[in-house]
Amino acid sequence: MNILLIGSGGREHALAKKLSQSPNVKLCAAPGNPGILQFAHHAHIDITEHEELLDFCEEASIDLVVVGPEAPLAAGLADDLRAKNFAVFGPSRDAARLESSKAFAKDFMLRHGIPTAQYRVFNEHQHHEAREYVASHPLPVVIKADGLAAGKGVTVAETHRHALEALDAAFDGKFGTAGRSIVVEEFMDGEEASLFAICDGENFLTLASAQDHKRIGDGDTGENTGGMGAYAPAPIVTTEILREAEERIIAPTLRGMKAEGHPFVGCLYVGLMIDTSGNARVVEFNARFGDPETQAVLNVLDGDLARLLHSAAIGNLDRSTVQSVASGVSCCVVLAASGYPGEVRRGDEITGIEDAEKTSNGAVSVFHAGTMLHDDVDGTQSLRTHGGRVLGVTAKGTTLEDAIEQSYKAIKHIHFRGKTYRTDIGQKGMKKG
Ligand code: AMP
Ligand code: GLY
Repeated sequence: MNILLIGSGGREHALAKKLSQSPNVKLCAAPGNPGILQFAHHAHIDITEHEELLDFCEEASIDLVVVGPEAPLAAGLADDLRAKNFAVFGPSRDAARLESSKAFAKDFMLRHGIPTAQYRVFNEHQHHEAREYVASHPLPVVIKADGLAAGKGVTVAETHRHALEALDAAFDGKFGTAGRSIVVEEFMDGEEASLFAICDGENFLTLASAQDHKRIGDGDTGENTGGMGAYAPAPIVTTEILREAEERIIAPTLRGMKAEGHPFVGCLYVGLMIDTSGNARVVEFNARFGDPETQAVLNVLDGDLARLLHSAAIGNLDRSTVQSVASGVSCCVVLAASGYPGEVRRGDEITGIEDAEKTSNGAVSVFHAGTMLHDDVDGTQSLRTHGGRVLGVTAKGTTLEDAIEQSYKAIKHIHFRGKTYRTDIGQKGMKKG
């Protein structure tokens, strides 16, 4: 099977590794990163140029395109590929609105009785009305830009002043067109977890549950990030909660999307908020795998990922490709560059990845996120930092404690200037487990 993988982050490195373990797979990747390109041929194409990409797929006889990030989906890449009869794992532009428009997602959930926070949507012509609504809303209140804002469009405001500032900033163009409409939402108390459902438009298979760690600091303090670590499976998602989420959230979402003419094919990411009574509501949908949860979730998947994703892409989900979604427990600790999630330095040399993987007897995989190869003056190449989140050090163990210990042991071998990480990844799960 010839597969083209789109993307360049840690999530895609984890996908590349797992896909390459499937029998008879030849993998290409664009844009890729130094980690991904250990498993994949580099497709020298501009992924925003759909014609160019289609030509590549034709020439390379691509059997399956797997789209990692949200931007190409929102740009209609899956539609253009399907129009030329290529099998693609990733939703159409319309189906991807579950992620690319929070207003669409909220209205959809309301139409289909899917549990989520109470909300109202305002457009830029309703600025005054929105201010009045926010000013009398119980606190905390959540203000969200409608469109894709790279995870920065959400404000959980503890005061009305802060809420109004967030509202004004969105309408003043802080998030560009993403903030033309905003969602004002009730605050939900509880603990978050992530579920990934592999969907063929009608049927689905839920992978191991996971928990992300979004704040930069230990104990969930400081600024929000893209995610500083994850572990899977997450004990907070009990068998009961998983069944509820499948019956009351995932299944009706797939039915609703199909009924509305936009069947969802791809990975449906359900961000859950679970309250103390075990009730789960949707915080957000994404139309793709999560990062860094994927690094942990695929690490405990026992199965043939290439055939699973291909079966979903052709509308004929084959659950028999998977032996177990949770064989073992995995923990991924993100190593970020100093300054993240703000401005970071780039170009610092990274050493010790091989040692970290070698000394763990195969228990540890180090996934590249923000790295690049630098041509040194002596004609060799060195690995350098090239982004905020640099690496995802991911271990598999028999218990969560074991997985955590292996990840942190491996981290000690890896060096780059300004290496920053949380020391408590997985601890939430230890308390539950
Ligand atoms: P989102 O991009 O919608 O996932 O929001 C980013 C983060 O903001 C989530 O992961 C939550 O931590 C928080 N958040 C969003 N909406 C709510 C809500 N209604 N209640 C509590 N926290 C929320
Ligand atoms: N880890 C959160 C996300 O991928 O959106």
